[in-house]
Amino acid sequence: METSLRPNIDWVGFVDWNVRDFHSYDTFRGATYNAYLVRDEKTALIDTVKAPYASNLLANIRELTDLSSVDYVVCNHAEPDHAGALGEVLKRLPNATLLCNQKCFDTLSMYFDTSDWKYEIVAEGDTRSLGSRTLAFVNTPMVHWPESMMTYVPEEKLLFSMDGFGQHYASSHRFDDENPLDVVMAEAKTYYANIVTPYGKQVHCTLDKASGLDIEMIAPSHGVIWRSHIPEIISAYRDWSNGKLAPKVLVIYDSMWESTGAMGEAIVRGATIDGVDVRLMHVRRTTLTEIAAEALDCPAIAFGSATLNRNMMPMASAALTYLKGLNPPKKATFAFGSYGWGIGGPEEVAKVLEAMKWDMIRPVLKTKYRPTPEILAECEQAGLELARKALAMAEAI
Ligand code: FEO
Repeated sequence: METSLRPNIDWVGFVDWNVRDFHSYDTFRGATYNAYLVRDEKTALIDTVKAPYASNLLANIRELTDLSSVDYVVCNHAEPDHAGALGEVLKRLPNATLLCNQKCFDTLSMYFDTSDWKYEIVAEGDTRSLGSRTLAFVNTPMVHWPESMMTYVPEEKLLFSMDGFGQHYASSHRFDDENPLDVVMAEAKTYYANIVTPYGKQVHCTLDKASGLDIEMIAPSHGVIWRSHIPEIISAYRDWSNGKLAPKVLVIYDSMWESTGAMGEAIVRGATIDGVDVRLMHVRRTTLTEIAAEALDCPAIAFGSATLNRNMMPMASAALTYLKGLNPPKKATFAFGSYGWGIGGPEEVAKVLEAMKWDMIRPVLKTKYRPTPEILAECEQAGLELARKALAMAEAI
């Protein structure tokens, strides 16, 4: 496995092949926690890994150098998937000084007893010379936490980008051009949709800062290192953070006895027009992770639920809660669903869609027990209207 980014700059992280849950993000392709070692007159470790993999990281460092020769440990981000091993690592690197910004240190102090740590606070624009190479620190708040920063090595045109441009993707190959690009880009989109979506404005700031740097390589903390497809990932981040939309309709639903399901299928039939991609997603057959990824660039979503105990179905509620938190670009929408002897399912859906300030294109579309041919025809018409909205919205951006 090629792990060398540049002479004496190496990947020393951990490939987590078997992780399938990352705080509710379904990581079907595993994940990596990337850490990097920069060896020069001084040696710097850029980030660590999740706590259980501290010994793997230390073993990787030991293959390259003596642990006592590490002078700095840069902590770009305090989240435990990168800083979880920091306490153990600092114990094992006797001559290392931690470099991080003040907010990061304050956060780390809530996770660790930092009283005996050697550390230096670095601010935006600060640098540390390693000899022939320099570490320059760039604050990137909210990409992904308030304390997040990136570290740039100008002599190598190399940006250690932390969560930015990452993917949850385990592979035996470290670089973008050694992996199928369509898979990597799809995982980058899924990562953006599930982790970064709420912080589009901050991504803009990060991209503006990055555009002022001369970059030949981007080394994120998850997934592959970008060296051959930097324009593609930068362009994708611009599109996602700008809210660029595709001509697409999602019909997301949960059903009890397939009445809401039949309505959803009728909406799909109506929405299936030239130039529009339509997808039917049952919330108990599709993960929240996939729904979020599809919703990122989708302008139009019909959301349905049957009625259970005068409310919507529980997984419909989970999907809406997740989407509400992620706050993807505004959608055209309507609620649909069925009820029997009690009402409430589709109405509760509509309340959440309204609270998200999505554009309600029609009143709640509902049916008692089984949808009649007339109701199904109304569903088809509503699907057609939603598809026309999707086309117009995608063309407008
Ligand atoms: Fe990969 Fe925000 O941590």
